[in-house]
Amino acid sequence: MKHLPVLYKEIIHALQPHASGRYVDGTVGAGGHARGILEACAPDGQLLGLDLDPQALALARETLAPFGQRARLAQASYTSISQQLSQLGWDAVDGILLDLGLSSMQLDTPERGFSFQHDAPLDMRFSPQNPTTAATLVNMLEEDELADLLYRYGEESDGRRIARAIVHARPLQTTRQLAEVVVGVSPRKGRVHPATQTFQALRIAVNEELDSVTEALPKAVSALRSGGRLAVISFHSLEDRIVKDFFREQSRDLVNPPYEPIYEHERKAILKEVNRKPILPSEIETADNPRARSAKLRIAEKL
Ligand SMILES: C[S@@+](CC[C@H](N)C(=O)[O-])C[C@H]1O[C@@H](n2cnc3c(N)ncnc32)[C@H](O)[C@@H]1O
Repeated sequence: MKHLPVLYKEIIHALQPHASGRYVDGTVGAGGHARGILEACAPDGQLLGLDLDPQALALARETLAPFGQRARLAQASYTSISQQLSQLGWDAVDGILLDLGLSSMQLDTPERGFSFQHDAPLDMRFSPQNPTTAATLVNMLEEDELADLLYRYGEESDGRRIARAIVHARPLQTTRQLAEVVVGVSPRKGRVHPATQTFQALRIAVNEELDSVTEALPKAVSALRSGGRLAVISFHSLEDRIVKDFFREQSRDLVNPPYEPIYEHERKAILKEVNRKPILPSEIETADNPRARSAKLRIAEKL
């Protein structure tokens, strides 16, 4: 299935790209949002697109070819945004997008191992340079560590039972083997496939997704010029909570109360939340693109 950029119009509206502006798409994927940003900052705005996945970058390169030197691409994590910008000699940028998670291309490429709908090796890495695959975690972790991972990253209430069954069935090499083990011990909950949360948890752990978001947000804010905007699309509550808490925390002054011991350094707010509540896709968008259903967009502006 073709990857339709989620909340496309909302992203362009949020970032307000303008001529001679500089933008970073930290998760460029197939380049759908990046193309919109480059069109909106014509004739001379520039964009740096980052992605860990060389296959995604190959698609982005094709999509963004018409923009020539205005589009730059690098295989790198968005956590390295500061180094990437200094390599280009860009000291501050006007807008940054993070569209978190995985793309339809990745989900629909069987050999990437992201989906229980196809039988494939348990891989789930965004970057081929990552030494840890889903098979590594499934076959090497202690039962307690696995249960913890399923609970923490999948919010899986059957985590303990699933972890025990996995340890019992190891070695597991394929997505189908893993899905069958989960189905064997965890009954179907409504319309959701029982292995959904297990697969989500493993993907998050393999790619250290939550740590990456936590690490990247302050770096992204420092890379913005005053008045620049950071837009983040998340796809599950764990990610959204990190973004929400960070935006909220950074948009208030920290003042020590009088007559109390000083417990924190005072500091001024550095962000303004553009929307207190997350922006959600319209019904029309979710009807066209079911993947958009769980998307939440938060936008903050640097003061
Ligand atoms: C939802 S897709 C982005 C789709 C893109 N906005 C588009 O319009 O095509 C998320 C992308 O982020 C990439 N990704 C995930 N973690 C990353 C990280 N830490 N650094 C850079 N890219 C990452 C994935 O490889 C994937 O291609």
